[in-house]
Amino acid sequence: MKKLFDEICVVGLGFVGLTTALSFADKNYKVIGIDKDEKLVKSLENNKIPFFEPFLNKKLKSLKKKNFSINSQYKLQKNKKYLFFICVGTPLKKNLTYDISNLIKTVKLIEKKVSNDAYIFIKSTILPGTTKKIENLIKKKNIIICNNPEFLREGHAWKDFNYADKIVVGYEKKIVKEVTQIVYGKFKSKILFVNPETSELIKQLSNALLSTLISFSNNFAMLAEKFKGVDIKSAFDSIKLDGRFFGKPAQISSYIHPGFGFGGYCLPKDIAAISKFSEKYNQSSFFKSVIKINRDIFNMQLNKVLNSTKKNSFICFLGLSFKEDTDDIRFSQPLKFVNALIRRNYKNLILCDKLAFEKLKKIYEKKNIQVLKKPNYNSRTKYILCNKDRVFLRFLKKIPHKQIIDLKYTIDKK
Ligand SMILES: NC(=O)c1ccc[n+]([C@@H]2O[C@H](COP(=O)([O-])OP(=O)(O)OC[C@H]3O[C@@H](n4cnc5c(N)ncnc54)[C@H](O)[C@@H]3O)[C@@H](O)[C@H]2O)c1
Repeated sequence: MKKLFDEICVVGLGFVGLTTALSFADKNYKVIGIDKDEKLVKSLENNKIPFFEPFLNKKLKSLKKKNFSINSQYKLQKNKKYLFFICVGTPLKKNLTYDISNLIKTVKLIEKKVSNDAYIFIKSTILPGTTKKIENLIKKKNIIICNNPEFLREGHAWKDFNYADKIVVGYEKKIVKEVTQIVYGKFKSKILFVNPETSELIKQLSNALLSTLISFSNNFAMLAEKFKGVDIKSAFDSIKLDGRFFGKPAQISSYIHPGFGFGGYCLPKDIAAISKFSEKYNQSSFFKSVIKINRDIFNMQLNKVLNSTKKNSFICFLGLSFKEDTDDIRFSQPLKFVNALIRRNYKNLILCDKLAFEKLKKIYEKKNIQVLKKPNYNSRTKYILCNKDRVFLRFLKKIPHKQIIDLKYTIDKK
């Protein structure tokens, strides 16, 4: 049988790309990782991953000795057939559409560099119609493109990729099906083949549902906050006992819980992009209310903090990354609270986060803000719970309720 590809090449080595590259290398494929960020490449060459993600460090060390190599240029061999996974960022532009310039640049560069057959799987998140649009830019007939959205969660990237519930591939040319079955054949996940527009939409559907569940929960929390005596935590706990929605384990339940709104790199930009996109079809009002509730809950919780503290209060934020189990502080809601207090001249802020410690120190120590790995107890301090890290929950168990502002509705009221 004709060999369809010789090596895998992953472009963009962030959360998605590095996980993708190491996972395929772990399955004994020869993998080349490419990133334009020379600092990142150097750091990976020295076995240092500049973000926290369980398992990746160990895998990087061992696989570099075997079948994983990294470079910042496209050092490809002319006689080889490559299978590319493009995992470059697709940030939001001011006009609320994705910036796909790096995606296009990458595809054009691949076209310039390869002479043999090549397959391009786009993993970056994009809107319906984008894969076709990019396909139209490719002139070489031996390059075949498809869409292969990624569903991993930061903090669980290795497990989510290697034991994925589904692999979605949006394709037009039959050969893509064969390539997919070979490359993903060593994983046990169910593969769903659809057309490119559908696979692009599946990714949007998935992220918009998560954002919606969060805004749904927060809308109820805002309503419940108006009635004295409603125990919001108990109410949401009761929902999670309903077996119709929650198998074992069913991690979706963590999205049906109020807090202070969704942040991070993906959910805010994806709901903004699908909302703008759907304006053209008169279908944006639902998405707009999800976004509005996300703004409203943040403002409600900020007011809660402002009303129970003073500018000279000692305030310790527990958890500053955008969610637990990650050091990613991009578009973090807890940091939005911190910055809002700094703008209001709050003097005594303390930031506590074990994983994001180094990143926070770089930004906040020069602003004279104390950054800690673990919380210390002080009877004058108010503790603001921003994530459900076990260390924080254990710490808060020992301190008086009046010192806690539980923005995640997590602490039992006794
Ligand atoms: N982070 C997540 O949880 C997650 C989950 C699923 C999907 N996604 C999507 O996957 C994509 C990547 O996300 P991420 O979180 O890994 O991003 P990231 O910002 O962590 O990494 C992207 C990497 O791409 C590199 N890059 C950008 N342009 C390049 C180019 N022209 N050539 C080579 N390298 C280039 C950057 O230097 C960076 O290291 C995005 O579209 C995102 O929406 C992210």
